[in-house]
Amino acid sequence: MKDSYSREINYLRLSLTGRCNLNCIYCKRDPVGRPDISLEEIKNLVEALAELGINKVRLTGGEPLMRDDIVEITKTIASIPGITDLAMTTNAILLTKYAKDLKDAGLHRLNISLNTLDYDTFKNMARFGKLPEVLAGIEAAKEAGFEKIKFNTVLMRGENDRDIETFIEYAKNEPIEVRFIEYMPMGDKYEKAKVIKADEVLAAHPELYPIDNADKKSVATLYTGDGFKGKVGFITPISSSFCDNCNRIRVTHDLKVRMCLGKDFENDLAPFFYLPKEELKAELSRIIKAKPEKGFCSGFSTKRKMGNIGG
Ligand code: 5AD
Repeated sequence: MKDSYSREINYLRLSLTGRCNLNCIYCKRDPVGRPDISLEEIKNLVEALAELGINKVRLTGGEPLMRDDIVEITKTIASIPGITDLAMTTNAILLTKYAKDLKDAGLHRLNISLNTLDYDTFKNMARFGKLPEVLAGIEAAKEAGFEKIKFNTVLMRGENDRDIETFIEYAKNEPIEVRFIEYMPMGDKYEKAKVIKADEVLAAHPELYPIDNADKKSVATLYTGDGFKGKVGFITPISSSFCDNCNRIRVTHDLKVRMCLGKDFENDLAPFFYLPKEELKAELSRIIKAKPEKGFCSGFSTKRKMGNIGG
């Protein structure tokens, strides 16, 4: 369905839990509140949204693989009529356990949050977990048959600057899309000086040239270089806005709908799960209509931490 600015809203980002097995410096968490959205609530929610025109779902967190029922959740959503694209953003650590089952359950695509390929930098940025666990998870995903895996790399000056070279080299040699994300103010303290904007990376890498993104709704602008097997993408919430063609609705694990990542404007869905499904659908439709026109570009306000929204 369309919002009041004629944007077609067809993409749900669903945060399954606030829990995570990492503790990244840019992604602080809110204290644990309500229990995580249940399988039954997920089913009702996605069915209602599918009837309103949502066809793409991305499972996020926290870390979505922290849910013991993640395979069941995947299977349930994959079998809802109208859902044609089911993806997940994960830190990959638990993929050694789940990759094959997720593939069988109907998960189509994986984005992996990977900020560095250096052991010590990983320790500094993720604080928990170890890089080899992540790399093993990525291998498990490839073995399970996941194609077109994308990496999400949050760039922070003084933390993972040197990984820019490493990841560009990686995209040269592997058929993978590495997406550099500008660091956003979604944690306890925001160190603005640590933002590395896309222009800065591009200026240092004249070998990269822009290419069309086949996914017109993607927020990443894509580049490649001669002889590259892969692509380098830039997600630029800080240096340029993509509000005009935003197609997203976000639902958090504590049943709040958030129509803009950068705005503390949330609606509580919890009461509607006690009512007939038509009521839930009517409320969702009302909320979608009221999606704000602009988010980031009109000033970023968020008390909620990224760890509870899921990007
Ligand atoms: N700034 C930019 N990206 C962030 N992510 C989490 N927190 C931030 C932040 N403060 C990333 C995650 C994940 C994606 C969904 O968002 O690393 O890959």
